[in-house]
Amino acid sequence: MKKIAVVGSLNMDYFAETNQFPAAGETVLGKDFFMSLGGKGANQAIAASRLGGRVSMYGSVGNDPNSTLIRNKMKEEQIDISHLQIVSESHTGVALIEICQSENRIVVIPGANLHTGISYINRVLDSLLEHDLVVFQLETPLEAIEYLVPKLYEKNKQVILNPAPAQRLSPELIQKITYLTPNEHEYRQVLGVDEPMEHALLKYPNKLVITCGQKGVIFHDGGAALTIPAFKVEAVDTTGAGDTFCGALAVALSEGRPLKDSISFGCAAAGLSVLKKGAQTGMPTRRELDQFIKGELSHEAGNI
Ligand code: RIB
Repeated sequence: MKKIAVVGSLNMDYFAETNQFPAAGETVLGKDFFMSLGGKGANQAIAASRLGGRVSMYGSVGNDPNSTLIRNKMKEEQIDISHLQIVSESHTGVALIEICQSENRIVVIPGANLHTGISYINRVLDSLLEHDLVVFQLETPLEAIEYLVPKLYEKNKQVILNPAPAQRLSPELIQKITYLTPNEHEYRQVLGVDEPMEHALLKYPNKLVITCGQKGVIFHDGGAALTIPAFKVEAVDTTGAGDTFCGALAVALSEGRPLKDSISFGCAAAGLSVLKKGAQTGMPTRRELDQFIKGELSHEAGNI
């Protein structure tokens, strides 16, 4: 089986659920509080591992109780964390997440994640190069990603970059990435363009994969722009749905599936992930996802 490396953030998420987001200067009473492991990197690693991927996580945590909880959870999820860096100068990353009627607002304080820089990458480079597919997001320093991606490109590795939170990327970096997965709100900033989605997709066929929430996922296959529909579900909490999509996409690609099928697989996984509160709680296992897809297909067949 091909090996997947995720280079990215690990956070402890603190969720506050409320019936109404507070306005500036306002206090509202919340209805639930819980903590859950998060960070776009850790979320994508867990999504991929639950779906049967062989996954290693690269990144940095602090030397504090959250770090221990996170490392134990990653091991429980069968993820290789032997190259994770523990730093004493910073706290483990945290995210403060308000959820209200399946919408969310997130503030991330990166802490230790900012130590996933070039010197760390140099220390873990040999082990990273043993992987076939490497997944990044933008909650760790961009300069380290810009440093590593050309080395992966030289060795013909597949690279997925989920550009969130959005930052402008250089054309040189974009050229060396195999798949770029912004959402419909991020793609303009990431590409540095102000043009309709169809134009952007046409420029990056089989590379630019734009996630559009309930509208599905759009990419250009070299002939036409294709929309892969989202699965219709009653969302409880959409936190981590994009991460589930990316983790699932990585697994399907690592199994050698074509891009279109891999996107459908990612859409199904993301659809299931929003049925529970928390970024990782609803991420499906392979068995759950296969059953869900089978159920949806028989439902479709019944409709014909
Ligand atoms: O994508 C969701 C994630 O964004 C959360 O888990 C939070 O930690 C932030 O990184």
